[in-house]
Amino acid sequence: MNRPVMAANWKMNNGPTSAREFMKAFLDQYPRQNDRTVLFFPPALSLAAVAAGLGDRRDVLLGVQNVHWADQGAFTGELSVAMARDAGARVVLVGHSERRHVFGETDEQTALKCAAVERGGLTPLLCVGEKLDEREAGNAESVVVSQLRAGLSQMQHLAVREVMIAYEPVWAIGTGRNATPDDASAMHKVIREELKSLCGERARFTPILYGGSVNTGNAPALLAASEVDGLLAGGASVDASSWLTIARA
Ligand code: 13P
Repeated sequence: MNRPVMAANWKMNNGPTSAREFMKAFLDQYPRQNDRTVLFFPPALSLAAVAAGLGDRRDVLLGVQNVHWADQGAFTGELSVAMARDAGARVVLVGHSERRHVFGETDEQTALKCAAVERGGLTPLLCVGEKLDEREAGNAESVVVSQLRAGLSQMQHLAVREVMIAYEPVWAIGTGRNATPDDASAMHKVIREELKSLCGERARFTPILYGGSVNTGNAPALLAASEVDGLLAGGASVDASSWLTIARA
């Protein structure tokens, strides 16, 4: 397995005040650890508080949950990659299931966003995952592969640029029903094979994270599953004590 990436997607939780409290509680009990990377995706308004809390902790990285693909302009409510970088982000979540299924983000938009993130010198963490009806119809792999191909299709330097992928089956997000380690492994293998055809040898080192109802109980087994290079937790990452347990899994 690659060095694990333990990622916390706070979604719309933890404003600046609770982000400050969280970081203090977390960092007090999470000494520098070189065998893994911890990654936080706070809401954009809490980015500065998390960055300030981190100080010089280079083993913990910061990301944003979404960006617009344009470099700047009249896009009320949106954030650019350059702004995210300026605020300390290194990674950008692209195509999260809630962006796709709540806000109607399309494959074309995920492609534009991944390309913008690459242009701006940050790392995209492209999220892919099938809905329950797609899995039940036997289409899980084809859905995931097509989201993957589409999302990466506009990147110019895929063979050399750092990219991360998260497999987050929609039916597992926020439902308490995680994919089994075997199911996660099987899909991660499909993703790895597809990545090999898209970016050659680099695919071996591309972190592929699992997300969907990760909790303190299931994190160790999911992380130990073959081809799983890390975890992307939502609900269980919002609270410092459960996130501490998961980040150390
Ligand atoms: P939950 O861990 O709450 O299921 O959310 C997963 C997720 O969407 C992480 O990005």
